[in-house]
Amino acid sequence: MLTSEQISPDKMQADYAAGFTRTLGRVQAVTAEVGLILFSCENGKLAVSRVRTGIIRIKLFAGAEPGDPIHLRTTEAVIGYEENPGGKEAELQVSDTESAYRIETDGITVEVAKQDSSLRFINESGQILAHNPLLAWNEDKAAAALFQATEHTHYYGLGEKTGFLDKRGERYEMWNSDNFSPHVPEIEALYQSIPFLIVNEPGNAYGIFLDNPGRSVFDMRGSEQAFTIHAETGGVDYYFIAGPKLKDVVGRYTALTGRIQLPPRWSIGYHQSRYSYMDQEEVLELARTFREKEIPCDVIHLDIHYMNEYRVFTFDPVRFPDPKAMIAELKNLGIRIVPIIDPGVKFDPDYHVYQEGAESNYFCLKPDGTPFIGPVWPGQSVFPDFTEAKVREWWGGLHRFFTEMGIEGIWNDMNEPSVFNECKTIEPDTLHGNDGHPATHQEIHNLYGMMMSKATAEGMTSHLGGRPFVLSRAGYAGIQRYAAVWTGDNRSYWEHMALAMPMVLNLGLSGVAFAGPDIGGFGHHTTGELLARWTQMGALFPFCRNHSMLDTIRQEPWSFGTDVENICRDYISLRYSLMPLLYSVFREAAETGMPVIRPLLLEYPDDPNTVNLCDQFLLGDQLLAAPVYRPNTYHRVVYLPEGNWFDYWTGERRRGGGHFMAHAPLDTLPLYVKEGAMIPRTEPAASTEFQRSRELLLLDIYTPENGASAFDLYDDDGTTYAFKDNFYNLHRLTVEEAEGRVKFRIQPACIGYDEGWKRWTVTFKHLRFAGCRLDFGTEVPSREELETLAKGWHFDRAAGELTVVMNQPLEDMELLIQAL
Ligand code: GLC
Repeated sequence: MLTSEQISPDKMQADYAAGFTRTLGRVQAVTAEVGLILFSCENGKLAVSRVRTGIIRIKLFAGAEPGDPIHLRTTEAVIGYEENPGGKEAELQVSDTESAYRIETDGITVEVAKQDSSLRFINESGQILAHNPLLAWNEDKAAAALFQATEHTHYYGLGEKTGFLDKRGERYEMWNSDNFSPHVPEIEALYQSIPFLIVNEPGNAYGIFLDNPGRSVFDMRGSEQAFTIHAETGGVDYYFIAGPKLKDVVGRYTALTGRIQLPPRWSIGYHQSRYSYMDQEEVLELARTFREKEIPCDVIHLDIHYMNEYRVFTFDPVRFPDPKAMIAELKNLGIRIVPIIDPGVKFDPDYHVYQEGAESNYFCLKPDGTPFIGPVWPGQSVFPDFTEAKVREWWGGLHRFFTEMGIEGIWNDMNEPSVFNECKTIEPDTLHGNDGHPATHQEIHNLYGMMMSKATAEGMTSHLGGRPFVLSRAGYAGIQRYAAVWTGDNRSYWEHMALAMPMVLNLGLSGVAFAGPDIGGFGHHTTGELLARWTQMGALFPFCRNHSMLDTIRQEPWSFGTDVENICRDYISLRYSLMPLLYSVFREAAETGMPVIRPLLLEYPDDPNTVNLCDQFLLGDQLLAAPVYRPNTYHRVVYLPEGNWFDYWTGERRRGGGHFMAHAPLDTLPLYVKEGAMIPRTEPAASTEFQRSRELLLLDIYTPENGASAFDLYDDDGTTYAFKDNFYNLHRLTVEEAEGRVKFRIQPACIGYDEGWKRWTVTFKHLRFAGCRLDFGTEVPSREELETLAKGWHFDRAAGELTVVMNQPLEDMELLIQAL
């Protein structure tokens, strides 16, 4: 708890930007090397290189003198360098004008001013996309980059931050921090650090990714005319990422730092957690309760009490005497176990993990060569140096302990890393091997958690031979390649439910498509109403887990009586019924980097109402959710962008392009479907494991009026990597309507998965015809017949709905519906 003492006059801090007085000065020489142009300036050097189309890297060598080494190593974040045929990076050409050197790449020209080495990024039509007038540093080599902005500049991305969607007027720090204090706008650093800022200006969006895993600051508060990026150590090494659209920036950023792996389908189901389910019997009882109450659930998490005195890779022999049997029994119920693993290894000479790590020198060392030791849950602990390949391999190997029991998912926590000491983490001068490029902890702090998850994901993948699920609290740019992310220790506050929307939306824009908060809130005590509302929202989030803290009120879906239980069941079931949609959207995220849930801004970038709209979100680009996030509130304002929309529950049509008041009793999540949407559903089931046997795909088509739309329906076995060898099904669906004719086409782009949906029931909703004629290339009932049928092929004249039943479409087919 802070007091007024904190604001006493002698505690006020100096301006962060003060003291950055050293700059490059005039360009004195320019040399072209393979893949880069090097500018030797009065007081240092500047390297400009092309990474791939639309991405330029700028690296400052502050104070570098002739002969000083120039290296362009990247951190683990970057995987997207485009290789040319022959494996060589592109030769760049430099030309000059009176005032500047010009490097033309495909699409972007970089101008370096001769006078002061300032940078401009220019597109093919001569428009200045970004202007970086200042690169500067101080005597400690802390460096800063300043970019021009205007009063029309808005900011997004930056990963897991508090505040609203638009980061204009905010300042954030990148330093992975276990912050148990309530997450409020004051808090500038949380568990994840993704130094990627999206800058959106009228007609142009671009991104700046600072590849620096030390402490950095993004300041959009200091001035309306500029934003600045400061790096405490490691200097300025940034990537300019061109738009012009937000989606281009997100697509390119995720080409640079990677995209999510297609997760196992079960991990997209509902997860239940608590700190902690204390013993084997409690876990089994919990699973049985889910089944008795018919609430779908795929995963139960085991928090730290499952371990033997918090020793990682152990089970407590008294509380969990037979984990293997427990796991087998749970599997029959369609439930998997995800145990927590923290990085701290108990300092205990009799413990095999400690012994192995100490013998092989796998733990982080202090400058005097002794291991860094710090307290966490197990007491004094040592910390594996995950920046070393051999350590990652060892750690990955330890997971055989779990996979041999049938465990397929791991939860990485405390991996900022959090240490219960004064600096709250590994001491800054601790050393990391860093795969041959030694660095202090201070320099690479933000990488630690991601490297732990990399070790975990790689180990699990090799033992399972299939897709693992890894969940991580800490991360750096690129974490999406290894793990899903939850947003740490929130509280059961309505404010934190609201905060989860912009936080997860910005994580999505920052590449982390698979993310979510603890549903119901972790700390503090939830209420039935909060749990109901939060579950409604969380049911449509990419990662869907209810988790709560030791000594808080119980938070399982049935903890607050039947009304709340029914609401939780209904919305978790909604998630399960939308599984074919969710899975297709996850696949899109894995392929293109587009987030699973999206701010409206991403789909409607030219609509001024979307600039900071973050109490609503889109699932993919078809469904719009507007959760209620205040107590005793049964109405809320909803904004629907241009076009027509349909109420998901009532089918009522609404014209977009404006706000309206939605009625939302406690059991109702305001949910809208875009005209033209094609929503694949199935029957909900207790577990994704059992869902496939139903074989029935329900496809609801919200028939467009004088328009067209498309959707890619994806399906595969859900657990293996066979999809990489084309064992998957991809149906390209298109629908168009013009002048009373609806044309629906199914193009199987790949049919490689035999167990796909065997029967499809396609419903064309909101047809504008009083009667219809079908042309399907096969025999179909006549109109009269259709109208007399109530099941299978039928036409409901009153609702304007035509239902068509077909066997799994294996060939290109087209269906024409015509008004009569
Ligand atoms: C941390 C995690 C939380 C977990 C607890 C105990 O606070 O963020 O999710 O329950 O540690 O392991």
